[in-house]
Amino acid sequence: MKARILSVGTFVPDTVLTNKEIETFLDTSDEWITTRTGIKERRIVDKEHPMSASEMGARASRIAMERAGVSSGDIDGIIVATFTPDNFFPSTACSMQADLGCKNAFAFDLSAACAGFTYALTVANNMIVSGQARTMLVVGSEVISKTLDWSDRGSCILFGDGAGAMVLAADEKNQQKGILSSCLFSDGTLGDLLTLPAWGENRVLKMKGNEVFKHAVRFMADLSLQAIDKAGLDVKDIDIIVPHQANIRIISALAEQLSVPMDKVAVNLQKYGNTSSASIPLAFEEAWLDGRIKDGSKVLFVGVGGGFSIGSAVCVF
Ligand code: UT7
Repeated sequence: MKARILSVGTFVPDTVLTNKEIETFLDTSDEWITTRTGIKERRIVDKEHPMSASEMGARASRIAMERAGVSSGDIDGIIVATFTPDNFFPSTACSMQADLGCKNAFAFDLSAACAGFTYALTVANNMIVSGQARTMLVVGSEVISKTLDWSDRGSCILFGDGAGAMVLAADEKNQQKGILSSCLFSDGTLGDLLTLPAWGENRVLKMKGNEVFKHAVRFMADLSLQAIDKAGLDVKDIDIIVPHQANIRIISALAEQLSVPMDKVAVNLQKYGNTSSASIPLAFEEAWLDGRIKDGSKVLFVGVGGGFSIGSAVCVF
């Protein structure tokens, strides 16, 4: 039994916040942000009437379900990776289950920050392979703009809002395709490098950017190699890497460590910034729609985030 990724769908809010606009209220510049991060602009939810993670996740999921040709009744399970849930409970996944009318689906949220999508993909894969579910929605959805300190130039310039969803389904017939391997790793001793408290005053995202940067590259390279090895492949076999879109310098350093040319790496952070658990499906969708990911492509997903949490997976399409 293999779990196959049938489709992807994404959603981003209409409002574009450019680096130039950030220049108007923060001591920074388009030039600094572009050269240090690769980001030119990001999408953010409307300040007056912000969309929730469940609303954005449902929009992305509808597109993914339509592309996969599955109806709401076909979905057995929904996992939503988010650090910006609508509520502690009901979970964002339960709200989406009601919104989408997936009445046969169990639903739960998962917290692994920017590695969330790789964690959700791994859990869904294992549930499908073990026979607990046949068709699942794996979602990353984030309203990060609401958690930022907009006077902290070391963090607020990086992030954006958005959502992405994939439909995964069981396939008993084709053993060559589907998710071949996945790896998860956590290091809680580095938890204070990237924080967002659940309680108390001053509940904003805080980051020791420089240190996060160094660990992110090392962890992503390690977990990438582990997943490739577990899949019985070599780095050269990978057609495209879809990494978490944190910073172009992190992504370039990862490519360099793996000796992979940048034209084999999906990058779209210039448009969306770091959308945390939504960034992998957002980058994947673009590569899928423009034909860089096609039938038979071997894809490496790798994500890293607060916790520290790191995840990777290798999949054949
Ligand atoms: O998904 C995981 C989430 N987090 C990450 O991936 C973050 C990873 N880290 C990064 O992306 C980078 O560390 C940052 C983009 C956050 C910062 O870039 P950096 O090259 O590591 O800069 P830095 O923190 O070493 O700061 C260098 C200088 C400092 O000035 P001084 O002390 O040298 O005078 C900062 O105050 O740049 C200054 N600086 C800025 N200047 C203009 C920091 N942020 C800004 C800014 N605009 N937005």
